[in-house]
Amino acid sequence: MSDELAGKRIVLGITGGVAAYKAAELARLLGKAGAQVDVVMTAAATRFVAPLTFQALTGRPVFTSLWDVPQDSPLPQPPLRAPRLAMHSQSAAAARSMLRETPPLPRKGQGERGESQRDFHGSGMAHIDLTRGADAVIVAPATADFIAKLVHGLADDLLATLCLAKDCPLLVAPAMNCQMWEHPATVRNMAQLRADGVSVLGPASGAQACGEVGAGRMLEPAELFDALHASFQPKLLAGKRVLLTAGPTFEALDPVRGLTNSSSGRMGFALAQACVEVGAEVTVVAGPVSLPTPTGVTRIDVTGALEMREAVKSALAGGLDVPPTRQKSALASGLDVPPTRQKSALAGRHIFIAVAAVADYRPAAPAAHKIKKGAQTLTLELVANPDILAEVAARPDAPFCVGFAAESQNLAEYAEGKRRAKKLPLVVGNLVQDGLGGDANVVTLFDAAGAHPVPPGDKLTIARAIVRHIAEMLHAQN
Ligand code: C5P
Repeated sequence: MSDELAGKRIVLGITGGVAAYKAAELARLLGKAGAQVDVVMTAAATRFVAPLTFQALTGRPVFTSLWDVPQDSPLPQPPLRAPRLAMHSQSAAAARSMLRETPPLPRKGQGERGESQRDFHGSGMAHIDLTRGADAVIVAPATADFIAKLVHGLADDLLATLCLAKDCPLLVAPAMNCQMWEHPATVRNMAQLRADGVSVLGPASGAQACGEVGAGRMLEPAELFDALHASFQPKLLAGKRVLLTAGPTFEALDPVRGLTNSSSGRMGFALAQACVEVGAEVTVVAGPVSLPTPTGVTRIDVTGALEMREAVKSALAGGLDVPPTRQKSALASGLDVPPTRQKSALAGRHIFIAVAAVADYRPAAPAAHKIKKGAQTLTLELVANPDILAEVAARPDAPFCVGFAAESQNLAEYAEGKRRAKKLPLVVGNLVQDGLGGDANVVTLFDAAGAHPVPPGDKLTIARAIVRHIAEMLHAQN
């Protein structure tokens, strides 16, 4: 889980869109990660979701008015000092009993016993008090109207006012109808928002609540959580371009069958995400996996080892950009270079991480038509696949190469042997029984300095540890 968010103070702003219901899940995820969440809702937002929902999820009062007064206590005791909260307090007794089971986190700037080191009591300035000491403000969903307000610096409600008064980063997750998103006024506003240093998260494309299809859907709560988490990461790989391979390969026997393995691609995708989080520009060449592409990652889908090798070579050549998602259909059609590719100004890669479980062999002559069953024994002739990682590591312009060694025994011996044989600075070793196909992993890093065990964890946590190690090695090289 996310260690960086533990103890962080997040102000979650909610404006009046259907996606407001998704903000409840975001509040829950942030709370689960140990963050203290102060929810601020516009009047329109309260028409979509009741403040009590957020009060119960965060264990904190919810603020809806410029005249709300921040409380040090997470349990608003009667008489309630937040007037709007009182308006939503029909089930306040039930909420209070839930809240009492959730001990409050000390505020930033408070000691263990909860003494406030600054006056956070009713100064009557909710718009100031709420963001002082906050680590970030995230507005999700952010309507077109609210974005326009931000751009013009309007301050006619609590949320807009605190966005002006804040002294911490602001992240905004737009959510609106696709026509509204594409309207020149919104396009102008978004450009200005970005120019003002606001981080814009999404939106995604897809079916909308209004029945239309297009860009304007708010990102999913887990994606917003990841983006917020990433915003707190030190940008260890800023300016670095990372290429990864991930997943299994599928070596066709005939049009419907093939040789593959049980690699899920999760470790590779987690590493891609971890690299993006620390500021890298990331491309992943993925074998057949059914995983969503992490936000900000360019993905090239391939099937067999030969295709994977070609995609890696193209990406390393750097002269060609790949489209954000190269569809399998384009590959099936035999297209070597998708027509949408363009020259990239950013040639080459700094880091290559080969996570893919590439099949060592492929059928020598895949059948053009489905192989029919017969009485006789069937013998397959296999030929060796190229070792993509070894080829890349042997290039004169080789990037910093990281290999994976998935073994069923003698991990240290085999992993270190692989590192030396392929001339790699770093190999990530794991036992297949610990990691292949699952959510968690146990890995040890092998480099010239020796073996470095990484604490067991979920694949994203482990990926972040691997990325930190890579960054340290690169830093030591320079
Ligand atoms: O030799 P072995 O297959 O165990 O090596 C594993 C490492 O080499 C992994 O990093 C894997 O992605 C990479 N590899 C490769 N091409 C192959 C075989 C393995 O890039 N044909």
